[in-house]
Amino acid sequence: MKLTLRINGSVVEQDADPLARLSEFLRQVLGLTGLKEGCCEGECGACTILMDGAPVHACLTLIFQAHEREITTVEGLGDAGVLTDLQAQFAGAGAVQCGYCTPGIIMSAEGLLRSTLTPSDEEIRHALAGNICRCTGFETIVRAVAAEAARRCEAGC
Ligand code: FES
Ligand code: FES
Repeated sequence: MKLTLRINGSVVEQDADPLARLSEFLRQVLGLTGLKEGCCEGECGACTILMDGAPVHACLTLIFQAHEREITTVEGLGDAGVLTDLQAQFAGAGAVQCGYCTPGIIMSAEGLLRSTLTPSDEEIRHALAGNICRCTGFETIVRAVAAEAARRCEAGC
């Protein structure tokens, strides 16, 4: 099936099995390896991307569901090799250890911050409930997201 996807600002037209997992397509065909495939069952959140601005698990998304949709992966948040402000907050707060979960959590957090200007800690925890981190205990992650929300607000929310 010929599919048209809008990925990180570029239009991608590709013949693909419409029932293949979007996570597999993004990683193996397009080389967007920022997202991870952990459980492939919707449990860990490592594959989280934005679809039309909302976080979704790419492992549970079939390619045809992404047809004509706006897809953003962690690579699409900024320039290669340069931390975005949100990523810098994670680094500064010590919210990254092994890093396996981090791209997925960044995308869930980005989805929250695009829809909620001043999220409470409870709202941040709720937004990240679909992401598992085995290393950090989440306190530093919540602090990093809250700090970025405050920075964006000061910058003009
Ligand atoms: S790999 Fe998608 S939720 Fe775990
Ligand atoms: S930093 Fe290791 S799983 Fe989250």
